[in-house]
Amino acid sequence: DAGMVSGSYILAIDQGTTGTRAVLFSHDGSLIGYSYREHTQIYPKPAWVEHNPLEIWGNTKLVIKEVIEYTRINPREIAAIGVTNQRETTVIWDPRNGQPVYNAIVWQDRRTSQMVDYLKQNYLGMIQERTGLVPDAYFSGTKIWWLLDNVPGLRDRARRGEVVFGTIDTWIIWNLTRGSKDVLTPERSGAHVIDYSNASRTMIFNIHKLDWDNELLEVEGKIPRDVLPLPRPSSDKAIYGYTGPEVSQILNGVNIPVCGDAGDQQAALFGQVGFDTGEVKSTYGTGNFILMNTGDKPVKSRMNLLTTVYYSLEEGKALYALEGSVFITGAAVQWFRDGLKAIEVSDEIEPLAASASDTGGVYFVPAFVGLGAPYWDQYARGLIIGITRGTERRHIARAILESIAYLTRDVLEAMMSDTGVKIPRIKVDGGAAKDNFLMQFQADITGIEVWRPVIFETTSLGAGYLAGLAVGFWNNLEEIKQNWRLDKVFKPRMDPETRERLYNGWKAAVKRALGWAKE
Ligand code: G3P
Repeated sequence: DAGMVSGSYILAIDQGTTGTRAVLFSHDGSLIGYSYREHTQIYPKPAWVEHNPLEIWGNTKLVIKEVIEYTRINPREIAAIGVTNQRETTVIWDPRNGQPVYNAIVWQDRRTSQMVDYLKQNYLGMIQERTGLVPDAYFSGTKIWWLLDNVPGLRDRARRGEVVFGTIDTWIIWNLTRGSKDVLTPERSGAHVIDYSNASRTMIFNIHKLDWDNELLEVEGKIPRDVLPLPRPSSDKAIYGYTGPEVSQILNGVNIPVCGDAGDQQAALFGQVGFDTGEVKSTYGTGNFILMNTGDKPVKSRMNLLTTVYYSLEEGKALYALEGSVFITGAAVQWFRDGLKAIEVSDEIEPLAASASDTGGVYFVPAFVGLGAPYWDQYARGLIIGITRGTERRHIARAILESIAYLTRDVLEAMMSDTGVKIPRIKVDGGAAKDNFLMQFQADITGIEVWRPVIFETTSLGAGYLAGLAVGFWNNLEEIKQNWRLDKVFKPRMDPETRERLYNGWKAAVKRALGWAKE
């Protein structure tokens, strides 16, 4: 009932790995304004990565304040708030005082690799079957386990129900709603919730039953069920809660419903209006995350992709996706700039690469931290191969950009083989989607059209859509679909022989990178 909605804007908060963004959208999906703040990356030991949850919450308040100031809107005009987030990253805190018991352990953190080896040896089938995941230190379960074992006194406090766990969405929503009288879980002093898509990345959540799994809690370090948030749909008519006193200062005393939540990669597919089965998006960031909507049935992967909850608009129901996570793509361009010092700013790589008509036979495999989907080899390392006397800087530049497209094709091939679906088009977003050379090569090397929308902030937009659906700001998916606007289609131009010859070369190069660091 549109009459019930008050406000002309939706506020989305995107809490990502490197920073936090607040974005205001209007009803037609236009971006009205945004603010962004980076936070500190903490590396206490090699392969450990942490964030300070209080710094992240502080930045969240700042960006909300700034976007309201920049756009000069009245907070009364905000109909709802949606949250999206870096997934898997794990926080445990005391809900009486809001103090985290330890830093957030970030998804990239590898400290729990040995716990994962133990789980793989003993519970591989059970974990894959129930969670849809390939056991890895990437996910939250073993991070909670590590905290319970390593923070003094934490296990006892957890047993007594004195602390709570959350992924970053949980942490942000709890803080936003803290102290508000009107929340779903008042005994936690804020809304203590997680949406099914974020829950599906914890490795303790049964994606078929859409609930925590007691046996997995037991084998992943005896995690007490009491510390876990309430799993909810991604867009919740029940409203997770209303903004509480702490943020009410920023919002001129207005209490805004907080009612949308999804992991950032899922939100990006939603923001791309990937509502039909078989639709695919690829986000070009530090890494690439490629998701395919597989509809209301979780597809079991034979190709080492992850089966994951896409989103839910109704309690007890969910849509699913297949996901390929590629850890290093844009980060290889950063390395070309900062490590090799071959360029000064990242944008220089596009014209440099485009100035070479091919790589002259050079391949670059950016396996800096091993390889993710579909290889999952933590011992793979980066390589450049095929260098001759004729090789110049521009050939290496081109090989780096091409590698991003090859890695994306690897995942798309796995998706098509798992589902038997011929992917009709790839919708792209993320920073490097603006790179025309890369997008054209992506189309060429896959033989699939690449569709680029006008708005790249599809992650925030997706979270905004979910929140707006909960309050009737948008009434249904059809209405939202109208908002997607095309910037450019890149059509495949390469002849099939060249395509396959180049791709075979890539496969041969990857083979040489696999297992390199294992002695
Ligand atoms: O699974 C990790 C992913 O959600 C991180 O995304 O954009 O915050 O690096 P991003």
